[in-house]
Amino acid sequence: MSDQYSLLILPGDGIGPEVMAEVVKVIGWFETHRGMKFDVSHDLVGGAAYDAHGAPLSDATMARAQSVDAVMLGAVGGPKYDVLDFSVKPERGLLRLRKEMDLFANLRPAQCFDALADFSSLKREVVAGLDILIVRELTSGVYFGEPRGIHSDDNNPENEGGRVGINTQRYTSGEIRRVARSAFELARRRTNKVCSMEKANVMESGILWREEVQWVHDNEYPDVELTHMYADNGAMQLVRRPQQFDVIVTDNLFGDILSDAAAMLTGSLGMLPSASLGAKMANGRPKAMYEPVHGSAPDIAGQGKANPIACILSFAMALRYSFDEGDAAAELERAVEHVLADGIRTADLMGPEGGTPVTTAQMGDYIIKALSQES
Ligand code: IPM
Ligand code: MG
Repeated sequence: MSDQYSLLILPGDGIGPEVMAEVVKVIGWFETHRGMKFDVSHDLVGGAAYDAHGAPLSDATMARAQSVDAVMLGAVGGPKYDVLDFSVKPERGLLRLRKEMDLFANLRPAQCFDALADFSSLKREVVAGLDILIVRELTSGVYFGEPRGIHSDDNNPENEGGRVGINTQRYTSGEIRRVARSAFELARRRTNKVCSMEKANVMESGILWREEVQWVHDNEYPDVELTHMYADNGAMQLVRRPQQFDVIVTDNLFGDILSDAAAMLTGSLGMLPSASLGAKMANGRPKAMYEPVHGSAPDIAGQGKANPIACILSFAMALRYSFDEGDAAAELERAVEHVLADGIRTADLMGPEGGTPVTTAQMGDYIIKALSQES
């Protein structure tokens, strides 16, 4: 393929730069051995951008993100930035990217690698072979709804403290329908099952969610099996019998929470990739950003302890969803599986049965070695 793939790398804060360095190595391998051409540029996001520009994402970086085929993001945040005003906190940089690129469908696959089944907090038989996909709505809901803010409540003498905090859960039917379509499309390529989660028992936005997902199903995807579940029951079912699910589609806030729970089922948060996709661009590729589900882990940053696999698997998702290089994505995923089966372990994956302890960089090297051996 003679296509050139443009990629903007935003390593961010904490362990972000360390895990992203391993992705850069993997990109180099695919350029050398698979003839792919990447036009890679680097920029700042989160606390790193705040330190440089006084904002967690500069307008120039935002413009660059809009112009590339895909963005790779490491992680944002750290205790140093906790004192900052809400409007310039590192997380705002990430949320701005999601919102302005209109990345409405966030794909968070939770797959349990056989070699790690004993790491899960659940029993091996409950999680072995687990392969579910959470599709989280990413550009609306309570994360962005207006009105929002902290106001004084002076006229209410019964309110001790005199303040009120407000956020708004707001969804339009169009926002629900487009993410539902993404979920149904993805389900057709898997085992054709979607479970939609909301709180229709207490929230009007939940009733609308349920009705609109059902509408898309009945009118456009009647071949896909659709069930609905209250999100609290969904959380319970995820830890009780996760294998009952294939694709879960849910709103921004429930998706944030449920995906952390699903991640832990697989043994380590250090393993989970994600893709955030928007509408198709002129070149036919979707607007896209790829990032590990884990955070910036400031407690272990800079020590070579971080697990780069979630970030490397996020690049595999970029190969699949942005560049249509599904074979290369599968090749990279197999290399990761191979290394795990060989007992290569960063600290988060080190269990009672031992293994070969490795640093972040060594894990990257082992994965590249496995890629080279397979080919
Ligand atoms: C996530 C994170 C973010 C979120 C934070 C860092 C803003 O938890 O991607 O799941 O809440 O969406
Ligand atoms: Mg989260």
